[in-house]
Amino acid sequence: MNLIKKILAAQAAVLALWAVSAQAATNEEIAERIKPVGEVCIQGEECKGVGAVAVAAGGGAKSADDIIAGHCGACHSAGVLGAPKIGDSAEWKKRADEQGGLDGLLAKAISGINAMPPKGTCADCSDDELKSAIQKMSGL
Ligand code: HEC
Repeated sequence: MNLIKKILAAQAAVLALWAVSAQAATNEEIAERIKPVGEVCIQGEECKGVGAVAVAAGGGAKSADDIIAGHCGACHSAGVLGAPKIGDSAEWKKRADEQGGLDGLLAKAISGINAMPPKGTCADCSDDELKSAIQKMSGL
């Protein structure tokens, strides 16, 4: 190889390296840009964001007080539309007897009855959470 050829080869190598690194940077940028908004988390693997979602979703069971304050109380505090009032245990007991106990009341609360909307408008309440709210309101 003469000197000219060596210089040319060196330049070609530098050019090639430059091209490769430029490509890598571009790929990273593209990956960053087309990254999905929601990332998939695999069970057992650490995942940022999951904690935030769990907290946003309530991070566990809602308390009876929160459910009543946020939903049931709107009607059951003042007895709107004939709703049994909070703490009127005689009225709640009568209804419980008609429905076959607390679980019967729970079934009606889930399905709704007359002016009482399904789940008392707490669509994301679990059965247990609804039950705890009924127990708290009725004293049963
Ligand atoms: C929009 C008003 C409203 C809201 C909100 C509401 N209720 Fe009611 N609820 C009623 C009315 C009205 C009745 C009486 C229905 C009837 O017997 O005609 C009732 C009755 C009930 C009964 C008795 C059912 C029966 O078989 O006698 C239960 C249990 C109950 N509600 C639970 C809840 C719970 C738990 C919540 C909150 C998660 C809730 N309600 C929210 C209006 C409401």
